[in-house]
Amino acid sequence: MIVAVDGPAGSGKGTITKIIANRLKLMNLDTGATYRCVALASLRKNIDINDEAQIIDEIDNLQIEFKEENGQDRVFLNGEDVSKLIRSTEVTGIVSQISAIIGVRLKLVDLQRKIAEGKDVILEGRDIGTYVFPNADVKIYLDATPEVRAERRYKENIEKGIKCTFEEVLDNINFRDKNDMSKKVGALKKADDAVVIDSSEMSIDEVANKMEEIIINSDAWRRERC
Ligand code: DC
Repeated sequence: MIVAVDGPAGSGKGTITKIIANRLKLMNLDTGATYRCVALASLRKNIDINDEAQIIDEIDNLQIEFKEENGQDRVFLNGEDVSKLIRSTEVTGIVSQISAIIGVRLKLVDLQRKIAEGKDVILEGRDIGTYVFPNADVKIYLDATPEVRAERRYKENIEKGIKCTFEEVLDNINFRDKNDMSKKVGALKKADDAVVIDSSEMSIDEVANKMEEIIINSDAWRRERC
């Protein structure tokens, strides 16, 4: 069972897919984290953001793994827990450019497909329903206005102790939307057969309930579970 959840930065994909994965016992795969790991590794090795060949080569030295520890989803890069580091302002500042490199996408999409193979998975990203799993059993496009999304990210950052201003977060959201939507491969785009949920005026619980309802009423869920 493959559930694809796409949408722009700050639309609530991460929060909601975690809740749904727990409720419906699905593996939760945050595909953005794979791009963030490559961004972190490139920063650590001081690789020039324009040196696409070196960034693509570097991926062969990286082992990216997703594990659940004490009920928490953790991301490991070459054995190191980088779950927090990949959310830093530095990584967030370059990840969109990293994810626009075609060679990077080809390698990471391959990895994402391998991780999901043979499992019941909910994947969140930008191109899951259109490119990574075009035959996904359920496709959802989660949206919200840029201001609402920036406000959520800003609050999240403050709670996590990441220093920033609301204006910086909004600028970054607008910059990333533009980059994510204009990519040559894997651009953020609603799949024709995706169900849209606009979460601008909805609580987390309302969005989660709506998403759960869509999944459990799908043909694939009924076939597998009933
Ligand atoms: O969801 P996120 O903010 O952690 O994603 C980080 C970046 O990776 C974001 O700029 C978009 C990109 N991304 C992508 O291009 N394709 C995906 N499937 C997931 C994320």
